[in-house]
Amino acid sequence: MKIRILLATAAVALGLIAAPAINQSISSAPVAATKADGELVWAGRKNLTSYVGGPENVTVSDGAYKLPPTQDDFSWAFLSTDYNPATKTGSINYKGKVDWYHAGHGFHIIISNPTIKYTNGKGEFIADVKMPVTGGETTEGRAAIFTLSDSAGTVEGNKYSWPSVGTTVTAEGERLFQKWYAAGSAWDSAKYYVSL
Ligand code: HEM
Repeated sequence: MKIRILLATAAVALGLIAAPAINQSISSAPVAATKADGELVWAGRKNLTSYVGGPENVTVSDGAYKLPPTQDDFSWAFLSTDYNPATKTGSINYKGKVDWYHAGHGFHIIISNPTIKYTNGKGEFIADVKMPVTGGETTEGRAAIFTLSDSAGTVEGNKYSWPSVGTTVTAEGERLFQKWYAAGSAWDSAKYYVSL
């Protein structure tokens, strides 16, 4: 009996058994306020998906998913936001990585962690881009790769939705995509929402 008590005391001292005081401090933690949420649904460019040979040559990870039934439209998970609807300013950050791989030409176009950024209602699409070409160069960086078309979106309670927003390649996008898409050319429109 004495030995058991001694062993238990030693285990607590060594941190092998959590002391009751620790549990109490966890259970008394404040309950978090309503959590912001959102989703980006964006195919990138369906023409590019066809060009690489279809969705089977597109790899999604880190919070991006292929959407049924066609698998060439992608869902990007919500990460965080500081969007202020009163000023139409702030960022909505999504996560996920989509990697288009053309085996024949030996190149990847990888887009990850997109951010929709509004400044006084004007939208930019920022993301990490990496384009390595076998036997060629690799471009890489995080930049505003698209300009977003003007779209007022809709409001439903605390949910702000933009059902169809055009994406147009910027000069920085043209550089990161190694001039395969000229500034001003279009990728597919994006659909996204954020609940604050
Ligand atoms: C390193 C080599 C290459 C790279 C990185 C590359 C990349 C690309 C990219 C990014 C596009 C745009 C796809 C889209 O979103 O619409 C494209 C289109 C195209 N490429 Fe290539 N390409 C390469 C080599 C070639 C070669 C060798 C050919 C021909 C033999 C070729 C023929 C085409 C054609 C015809 C299109 C237009 C496809 C369409 O409009 O559907 N490419 N290429």
